[in-house]
Amino acid sequence: MDLISLASGASYFASPAMATAAAIAALQAGHTSYGPTEGTPGLRQAVSQKYKSMGQDVEPEQVMITPGSKQALFNLFTVLLRQGDEVVVPTPAWFGFHELMKYSCGTLVPLPTKQEEGYTLTPDMLRQALNENSRILLLTNPGNPTGRIYTKEELEALLQVTKQFPNLYIISDEIYDHITYSQPYTSLLSCMGAKKENTILVNGFSKNFAMSGWRIGYILGPQELVNKCIDFQASTFSGVSVFLQEAAQATLEQSDNALKQMLPVLSENRHLMADALDSMAGVSYHLPDGAYYFFPDFSACLQKKTPQGKLLQSSMDLANYLQENYKLSIAPGENFGAPGHARLSFAVEKNKLQEAMERLNDALVSLSLNRSV
Ligand SMILES: Cc1ncc(COP(=O)(O)O)c(C=O)c1O
Repeated sequence: MDLISLASGASYFASPAMATAAAIAALQAGHTSYGPTEGTPGLRQAVSQKYKSMGQDVEPEQVMITPGSKQALFNLFTVLLRQGDEVVVPTPAWFGFHELMKYSCGTLVPLPTKQEEGYTLTPDMLRQALNENSRILLLTNPGNPTGRIYTKEELEALLQVTKQFPNLYIISDEIYDHITYSQPYTSLLSCMGAKKENTILVNGFSKNFAMSGWRIGYILGPQELVNKCIDFQASTFSGVSVFLQEAAQATLEQSDNALKQMLPVLSENRHLMADALDSMAGVSYHLPDGAYYFFPDFSACLQKKTPQGKLLQSSMDLANYLQENYKLSIAPGENFGAPGHARLSFAVEKNKLQEAMERLNDALVSLSLNRSV
């Protein structure tokens, strides 16, 4: 039996052909020297154009190209955070935020939201989490691992609350922005109440365009802050390789072509996974509106013994049981601040996805045949 992984954050799709062609052409043209730290004028322009075409007033100078969006976040944390500062993160959230905080000043403050409430973050909940030490509110839209999309109304109500905190920056991680199903996402920038001085977008090419190994992301924010980030990048990593940026530019300029291969497949896979989970007793989930994960609650399957007699006490135990006995890999919810849950990616080949859901079902049935304790 081969291992099937539903745990990865990368999809199985090939990177867009136009990216590969543009990278090869740039290499053959000898574009192999240092490039500008802030990014090539062509890619900065293409990013600003993306937002201009959505009606936002964004200049290329407000854009900085980074080696992946993780680096974009690290850059922002380094520039913005001082000892004692707080980064408020609605959870469940991507585990990378925690990892990044290990090497940044400040503290991550989880702001828990619940599956049974549709992972809604209300203005009241936000108001209670913020104080004078709050330096960053970090939203992810669409969400990883929940697939939750904040509506424009929700974002505008949250922005009203942030107005009372003049030292606060709002970072919106929109790395899954094109991967949506039932409703389109709203960029924080397009919301009433989003002030140019403290609104920052982070985005990248890893998810929308299946380019995780190319390591390209960007920051879009107030000019003064972007300049500080450029200075940090100049002192540390330098600019992203020019041939990679040319590939990213070609992809962005033809983004509709790049996306049209992927989105219908993801949409079908989402249905397949929903149907399979629906048939599993005790498993509940929030249907994702975006990104490519389900984040089901498996807690009703815990506190049971495996056929080998091992008691499953956590979703980490469940993940180990699946891996050892069914060669199925899932990402345990503890990593996302939500014990009892697990993240399952549906950005895998359809036949593997079908097989994976059969293995999961068999594994859960075997558990229910064993006595609960
Ligand atoms: C919400 C979120 N932000 C950022 C990243 C980092 O992406 P990149 O590959 O651009 O560094 C990920 C990757 O999983 C993610 O899920």
